[in-house]
Amino acid sequence: MIEARHLTKVFDLPPARARRALDTGTDRGRAVREAGGVLAVDDVSFSVQQGELFVVMGLSGSGKSTVIRMINRLVAPTAGNVVYDGTDVGGMTRQQLRELRNKRVGMVFQHFALFPHRTVRENAAYGLKARGMPRRERLQRADRALEQVGLGQRGDAYPDEFSGGMKQRVGLARALTTDPDVLIMDEPFSALDPLTRRSMQEQLLELQRDFRKTIIFVTHDLNEAMRIGDRIMVMRDGRIVQLGTGPEIISRPADGYVHDFVSDVDRTRVLTASTVMQPPWVTATLDEDPASVLARMEESRGRGVYVTDPGGEIAGVVTPALLSEAIAEHRADLGDCVGDDYTAVPDDTPLVEFCHLAGGHTVPLAVVDRNKHLVGVVPRARVLDAIASAPKDVNEHA
Ligand SMILES: Nc1ncnc2c1ncn2[C@@H]1O[C@H](COP(=O)(O)OP(=O)(O)O)[C@@H](O)[C@H]1O
Ligand SMILES: [Mg+2]
Repeated sequence: MIEARHLTKVFDLPPARARRALDTGTDRGRAVREAGGVLAVDDVSFSVQQGELFVVMGLSGSGKSTVIRMINRLVAPTAGNVVYDGTDVGGMTRQQLRELRNKRVGMVFQHFALFPHRTVRENAAYGLKARGMPRRERLQRADRALEQVGLGQRGDAYPDEFSGGMKQRVGLARALTTDPDVLIMDEPFSALDPLTRRSMQEQLLELQRDFRKTIIFVTHDLNEAMRIGDRIMVMRDGRIVQLGTGPEIISRPADGYVHDFVSDVDRTRVLTASTVMQPPWVTATLDEDPASVLARMEESRGRGVYVTDPGGEIAGVVTPALLSEAIAEHRADLGDCVGDDYTAVPDDTPLVEFCHLAGGHTVPLAVVDRNKHLVGVVPRARVLDAIASAPKDVNEHA
């Protein structure tokens, strides 16, 4: 949907001199600095999928705002380009660019101006004015957008009656009135207190679930990034240091910088069953006979194994005791031996929701995908490791 290719931005130098400095070779940042410029964004490439909630994370000054402003060309790149839905934004006519900004890409900022003498409804409708839409329709659309952000009944109020969180909702509603395909949000919740912030994050996730917006969300808070992001792009000094899902970043930080960030994160909410599971050591299928399964278990000294049906779903669990009994009674069908002493969790369950379940049975916790297929197991030790261990040091997995 959005593809950024080698985006680079130098401030405070004429374009030609900026490009000359960039071409000088190894240390581009230094070359630009010595020429009197600022290399705000340095060769950043990424793509955002339709319906994705893509987070750009980094400390203040790392180039986040500059990157996202290049998407709709509020900032013109010094080098590189953006392709929006197949069209090169750099090659757009004025008219196309205006349409991109006014209709297709909505923006929400940390601080934005609400007009104090206008109602919340009129404030929300503000973005539609430029489109020559009749007033009645503008206000109707504003009401619909206010509804979407949980302010459905508050259109007649004035901004100064609103808390910070509610004002941000009005800002979000304003961005939603044009029904944009993409929402770009630059630290929209950073000025809010933690509780309000939390509820705004929930609201945003709901909004994305219901309306499948593509959202690019900027934050300097990794916890926030982890809570809402499908993928997170970590930036430092204008460059990408890591791009991946929250669990990927938390379990394999790319360098010491990301590692330090990650050590503050509540791992139990980020890690999921699929990120901590391992392949089952031994499994059996329903068509096997009890004796051969028992032999295999003795070899591996397992205390129990999962038995799957031909479709890959869990049929139950067998233990050496159950198998021996079946063999003694000449029962040849494994389906007659299985017990149900196990627990299965969906693969996207956060660790915090299943850690207490690990270790409750002779077999480790089962992890199933959305088709109920057994995809892995989580032994108790694995849960403890995941909670206790600081993320692996860079050197350790180098
Ligand atoms: N309009 C500008 N003129 C000059 N320098 C700028 C401008 N905008 C940003 N910068 C510089 O570019 C770098 C990146 O800034 P920014 O993209 O705002 O970072 P972030 O949003 O991550 O805080 C900083 O060093 C900042 O001072
Ligand atoms: Mg910024």
